[in-house]
Amino acid sequence: MKLFLDTANLEEIRAIKRWGVLSGCTTNPSLLAKEGKDWEVQMKEVCAEVDGDVSLETTESTADAIFEQGMRLASVAPNAVVKVVMTPEGLEAGSRLVAEGVPINVTLCFSPAQAILAAEAGARYVSPFLGRIDDIGADGLYVLEEICSIFEVQGYETDVLAASLRHPMHVIEAARLGADVATMPYDVFTKLVKHPLTDLGLEKFDSDWKKLQKELKEGAK
Ligand code: E4P
Repeated sequence: MKLFLDTANLEEIRAIKRWGVLSGCTTNPSLLAKEGKDWEVQMKEVCAEVDGDVSLETTESTADAIFEQGMRLASVAPNAVVKVVMTPEGLEAGSRLVAEGVPINVTLCFSPAQAILAAEAGARYVSPFLGRIDDIGADGLYVLEEICSIFEVQGYETDVLAASLRHPMHVIEAARLGADVATMPYDVFTKLVKHPLTDLGLEKFDSDWKKLQKELKEGAK
């Protein structure tokens, strides 16, 4: 399972990139708005920083306008993937973008039925939003499990991109269920690396090592 960062923040991208585990990035209008800069400049900078696909979301509402905007977003960088929302207009524009050779990510997906439509439209990615499903008292992981098993049975080439991940268990379960990609915010990424036993173990190794150095130094006197 590939790990993507869900952000438009360059510092966050650089920090996780240094770990050597970052395969791509997803952005959305809210994340770009958070940066408060010219969104087109920000999109270009994000694409230049990431070695891998970067999803850039359309904001128009009619099929024609989504298509036109999608074509523009696709030209931002060679690694740009155009995000279209799972609506009839988004699907229509998305199918036309795919026909033009533009890779798309169908976003705001909340059900297996919607995921099937994205795969049939030839999307590179479909993004089920786990956390937002949990937020309304339903089970995001169950929806992801259904999508992964349908895609397996059908042999769909569309990658399942588990999105709206809120904690490490979402990431672990997404991997267990067979998601192709997990996209997560910076704070979830940093939680993946943390374990109290690692910290305790490191503390003990460090103190034993320092003790030995002290003993050797004293013995040398
Ligand atoms: C994915 O592409 C979305 O940008 C993201 O995962 C949404 O997450 P949220 O529900 O935490 O806003």
